[in-house]
This record gives sequence, C-alpha cells and structure tokens, in this order.
Amino acid sequence: MIIDKIYAIYFSPTGTTEKAAIAVTDSTGIPYEKIDLTTRHARHDFKHTFKKSELAIVGLPVYGGRLPGKLDNFFTGLHGNSSPAIALVVYGNRAYEDALIELKVRLEERGFTVIAGAAFIGEHTFSKKIAGGRPDAADIIIAKNLGKKAVKNMDKLMQGTLHVKGDYPYLKEGFNSRKPFGPLATFTNIVTTEDCTRCGLCAEECPWEAIDSEDYATIDYTKCMRCFRCIRVCPAEAKKNISEKFDEALPVFEKMVSARKEPELFLAE
Ligand SMILES: Cc1cc2nc3c(=O)[nH]c(=O)nc-3n(C[C@H](O)[C@H](O)[C@H](O)COP(=O)(O)O)c2cc1C
Repeated sequence: MIIDKIYAIYFSPTGTTEKAAIAVTDSTGIPYEKIDLTTRHARHDFKHTFKKSELAIVGLPVYGGRLPGKLDNFFTGLHGNSSPAIALVVYGNRAYEDALIELKVRLEERGFTVIAGAAFIGEHTFSKKIAGGRPDAADIIIAKNLGKKAVKNMDKLMQGTLHVKGDYPYLKEGFNSRKPFGPLATFTNIVTTEDCTRCGLCAEECPWEAIDSEDYATIDYTKCMRCFRCIRVCPAEAKKNISEKFDEALPVFEKMVSARKEPELFLAE
C-alpha cells in the first residue's frame, strides 16, 4: 500500500502537541499538510474525506486523563475510508490514563484504521518546570522514527490489531469546566492587565469562545478549559494567571510529577 499524502491534524493550545505531530509527519519524506484545528472557526470550516492512500496523524493534548471536551467539529470533519491513522496524545508528565484509547475509539468511529498510538510528553500548561521544553530533541527522534516505521510497515500494520493503554469503558472523567476537578485548574484566575491593546486576538483564538468578543477581560469560566491559549497568544502579554492559591499549590504538584517520563508507542500487530 502506497501512502501518497500525510495530514498532521491537531488541536494544540500551547503548541506541544503540534510539535510532536509534525515531527511524526515530516520525517517520512511524503508530502504533507498541517491542519491546525485549535480555533473554533478552523474546526467549523474543516471537512476532509480521506482516501485509502492518505495517512492521518491526529494529535490532541490530555486534560484530566481524557481528551479535551467540547471540541465541536474536531472529529465530525474527519471522514476515514478505512484510511490509516496514527493516534497521538501529549500529556504534561503526570499521566494520560484513558486519553489515548479515547482517541483510538473516536478515530475508529470516524472510519479510520488506527495503525499506531503514541503518548508523548509536553511541557505542562501550568508550569515550565514540569517537562519544560518537551517534546525535546530525544522525543523528536522517537517521533520521527515512529513516522518512518509506520510508512515503511504500512501493509503489515493495516492487517494487524492495535492495543493501547487505557480503559474502555473509560474510568477517567476528564476535565469539566463546569466542575473543575483538580486544585490547580480550579485555582486559575486569568486577568487582563492595563497592557491590553484591545486587539481581540485572545477572543478570536480561544478554542471555546469563552472570552467575550467585546469585553476581552470577561471570561466565561463555564466554557473556559484553562488551556492558557489566551496567555500564550497575547502580543502585549496582557493576559496573566494571577492567583495566590494557584501559586501555593503549584510547587506541590511540580514535585509530585517531577520524575521524567518517556514516550510510549503502540503498533498494530
Ligand atoms: C485543563 C488541563 C488538564 C490537564 N490534565 C492533564 C493530565 O491529566 N495529565 C497530564 O499529564 N497533563 C495534563 N495537562 C497538561 C497538558 O496535557 C500538557 O501540558 C500538554 O502538553 C498541552 O498540550 P498543548 O501544548 O498542545 O496545548 C492538562 C492541562 C490542562 C490545561
């Protein structure tokens, strides 16, 4: 089976999932396209029916041991045709629990044959001290090798069965913005400082339309998933997470998840 095109499709509010997905993709020597589905309008506009000769590399971060919720249109735009796919999750060095199996299930529901799964580690949204700079050079080599291996062994992988870690039915609930589970996420408090130039980029880029499109300082916390994209994209650095409770809880969490974890790969056999 010849693969003539690869798509790296990802949701990545702070860029680590994007980095890992592209590394898997661009090592293969096959023409590829990047499809960034982080914003709502990108998800709304996206629709692609995959041919059997097209490989989809689909990447999402882990939120509360599951995929981020409320990602309207992320999966509905993907139409597999028994086309091969690689499921890729990126987590902040704590745990990925049921996220990878969830991604595999969601892709199979969309008509893909999932030939491989991978869990990579990315710098944690809440702290540069947790997996800072990851995926790093060593992770990127692993990601590139995965892409090469998948393309080289495509026929065999397509005939195999893939098993990944995780529970199905799922045991983890995932992150719920209406009922934040962990102290850190609960304690976040995103403020807009006087440096705000009212450019509106934060509202435009928010994956959940949680920022008021007229008053950029107003955030609907029932929609906000604490992804910190607004902090990341603000050109004036006017969005900040300012919270004493968060600052108190963070060092405890940092210590808890400090031991380096390594990427895990699963191939169909
Ligand atoms: C709301 C929320 C929940 C998270 N839950 C987990 C988790 O359960 N396990 C983990 O290891 N990392 C968790 N993380 C960290 C992210 O998975 C990690 O930083 C990832 O690299 C972010 O991807 P991105 O850079 O593509 O946005 C969470 C982050 C957020 C914002």
